[in-house]
Amino acid sequence: MHSESLVVWRLIARASGCLRHRHSECALVAARRGGFFMIDRGWAQFIAKRGERVWIVVTGALLTILSIRYDGFEALTTFSAAHEQWELDELLVIVFFAGLCATALLVLRARDLRRESAARTAIETAERLRVENDRDRLHNLFEQSPSFMAISRGPEHRFEFVNSAYEALVQRSRDRLIGREVAELFPSVLRIGIIPIMDEVYRTGVPYSARRVRVNLSEHYEDPRFERVVNWVAHPYRDAEGRIIGVFSEGTDITDQVDAEDKVRRLTSELIHVARVSAMGTMASTLAHELNQPLTAISNYAATAEIVCKQREAAQDDPIVGALTAIKGASLRAGDIIRRLRRMCARETARTEVVRIVDLVDDALKLGLIDFAERQPEVKVSVPPSLLALADPIQIQQVLVNLVRNSAEAMAESPTRMLRIAATRIGNMVDISVQDSGPGLSGDALARLFEPFTTTKAGGMGVGLSISRTIIEAHGGRISAHNEPEGGCTFRFSLRMPEAPAVLETSRLG
Ligand SMILES: Nc1ncnc2c1ncn2[C@@H]1O[C@H](COP(=O)(O)OP(=O)(O)OP(=O)(O)O)[C@@H](O)[C@H]1O
Ligand SMILES: [Mg+2]
Repeated sequence: MHSESLVVWRLIARASGCLRHRHSECALVAARRGGFFMIDRGWAQFIAKRGERVWIVVTGALLTILSIRYDGFEALTTFSAAHEQWELDELLVIVFFAGLCATALLVLRARDLRRESAARTAIETAERLRVENDRDRLHNLFEQSPSFMAISRGPEHRFEFVNSAYEALVQRSRDRLIGREVAELFPSVLRIGIIPIMDEVYRTGVPYSARRVRVNLSEHYEDPRFERVVNWVAHPYRDAEGRIIGVFSEGTDITDQVDAEDKVRRLTSELIHVARVSAMGTMASTLAHELNQPLTAISNYAATAEIVCKQREAAQDDPIVGALTAIKGASLRAGDIIRRLRRMCARETARTEVVRIVDLVDDALKLGLIDFAERQPEVKVSVPPSLLALADPIQIQQVLVNLVRNSAEAMAESPTRMLRIAATRIGNMVDISVQDSGPGLSGDALARLFEPFTTTKAGGMGVGLSISRTIIEAHGGRISAHNEPEGGCTFRFSLRMPEAPAVLETSRLG
């Protein structure tokens, strides 16, 4: 042990304050379960012979690792117990290495703990992300669901959650719903018995389902805009322990479907009505033909009786003469009306001809106001007799009759009933307007006026204006409507004028 390396070795050991004993060269110890390793003098000499300091370091590191790997503490304790006869220096070296091992162990343990904690954090983060993903997916599912969903809590059914479909159903955003009671928000649900059903579901836990529930979801009064038809299911809503804590409502809004079905039903009945009217039209034509003869006879008899009375020098103011004159006039008018009706009902292919506007207006007024006996409006016509247009007289008469009737119907309850029909020339077109003093058109009505089946009348079909637009556009004109500032509204349409000055051979339709 006099080599240079042993000196170095001793110096290292001495620096650690452990080497003062004769056995110090064999004091580097590490143990493993069931055995131990030690550097004895021979190993030390081998190291010295090799003369490489690095071996000393390697040996120290190896022993440290071994003592850590193989539960060095326990082994070292056993070892020291078995070598009680060892001197203090030997034990000090053992303690020194034990301390080294403990420190290394602690460092490694800390590293393990750090790794464990990092792994735990990674697992927790992955779990949190999974839960968040699940929650987001569930949330999206709820939000995108075409079914409406809502959770109400407690026996008072206070809204806790609603999805977008529910917001659309009730036409209110969720911040106006959450925290409020169902009955307070939708008073009509109380009246139709929905709250008692929810009470029952909450109390018994038995789900309830209903189809085609018609419900008004307005807050203050039964506003028809909030009228909906729904298929609805109410489930008990339970907490983690299975206790019922609320009601989960879910369902579909089938209002559009029900409206469409109603519309089809209405259209079917209207179609039946049209078929009936069409049959009536054919009958009216025959009827008119049949009635025309007795009416002509009545008027002829009245005229003859009038002449006879006059020949018998009855006074001009004799009531009999007056009555006969009236009979003659009435029967002529009746015949006239019947002739016009026959033409209206006749199905003819469209034929464009030069027509006098004033005659069309005159005919339309006679036909259009036929059943407005005591609610007849005051009529003002301002149409130059010379104003001509190129048109199918029957079709334009149909347009005018609908406009006149619409106006008269709109003014039925008005205090003043004034109907103005005017026509003027604008360039090579004739502009015809029908103005009334009725209530005018609402914004909604104005937007959909010329669409088919738009009506506010119980018996109306809502096709008059849409047919009128088709007719006018087929004539190369335009039809429009606007409200008048002083009340009422005006419908206006245009027709082409004949290109060359035209001479009318017959002016009347009848
Ligand atoms: N002069 C008017 N004043 C107020 N509202 C009107 C007037 N003219 C039309 N309307 C509104 O426009 C709707 C559509 O009119 P349209 O003539 O197309 O159908 P309708 O008169 O209801 O039925 P029909 O098919 O028997 O004519 C009417 O129901 C009415 O609400
Ligand atoms: Mg109409």
